[in-house]
Amino acid sequence: MRFSTISLLQELHEQSEGQSFARARAQFRGTDEEFSRRLRQYLGMLPSRKGKFLKQHGFSSADAQSAQGTTMSLAISEDMGRFLYNLTLMRRPARILELGSSYGVSTLYLASALQQLGKGEMIASELDSMKCRKLKEHLNIAGVASLVAVWEGDAFELFNNLAGHFDLVFMDVWSTLYLKMFQRLEAFLQPGSVVITDHMYTAQDEVADFRRYLSASRQFSSSTLDFASGVEFTVMV
Ligand SMILES: C[S@@+](CC[C@H](N)C(=O)[O-])C[C@H]1O[C@@H](n2cnc3c(N)ncnc32)[C@H](O)[C@@H]1O
Repeated sequence: MRFSTISLLQELHEQSEGQSFARARAQFRGTDEEFSRRLRQYLGMLPSRKGKFLKQHGFSSADAQSAQGTTMSLAISEDMGRFLYNLTLMRRPARILELGSSYGVSTLYLASALQQLGKGEMIASELDSMKCRKLKEHLNIAGVASLVAVWEGDAFELFNNLAGHFDLVFMDVWSTLYLKMFQRLEAFLQPGSVVITDHMYTAQDEVADFRRYLSASRQFSSSTLDFASGVEFTVMV
């Protein structure tokens, strides 16, 4: 990965973590010491317990998922980014689809891996026009803009304009939409296609219907990777 991309990513990760921290502090009704104690507890706990913990202590992402949306970045973690980068190097996809790009942190990891491979292309989709503007700026800075077509608008509408198949999909829209979006996505998958979905632990109640759907499916083999916010790794059989 280029040095300029690494430093851009560092800046974007810091910005996103700062925003999430500030939101959590605003939602927490207690002293700074109590907040620090809860934060240490959260950071040290098994990923699979995080969703319950967040709910129990009144932390919620419902504000972000409202109709107004949010200017918050809500970017993936560095760990998760490295995972997407390595997965792309391994899978060597001809086509990647990203659903929910925000300011482009995950997009930068995926597109940088395509740049490294010297082949492949990607579609990145984002509902919010301000975020799309920043996303394009970031792709330009990283020198990967030519590899990524940005769809500005609702990803459900994007499906009406798509053809062919995707080898790798990263789904990171609002978690309440996962099941509906995945069912729409299925027509664009083929055996061997991989779908990665974030927040399977941190939004465990919201994704329960999606999890049940995958468990009951014979067409998909799926398991939850126990890192970051809970990462669903789904392969079309
Ligand atoms: C969790 S953030 C994505 C973070 C991003 N993957 C990253 O790592 O920086 C979710 C994003 O999905 C977008 N989104 C939500 N619903 C959408 C939809 N129906 N179509 C396209 N984007 C959507 C939101 O605007 C938000 O920016």
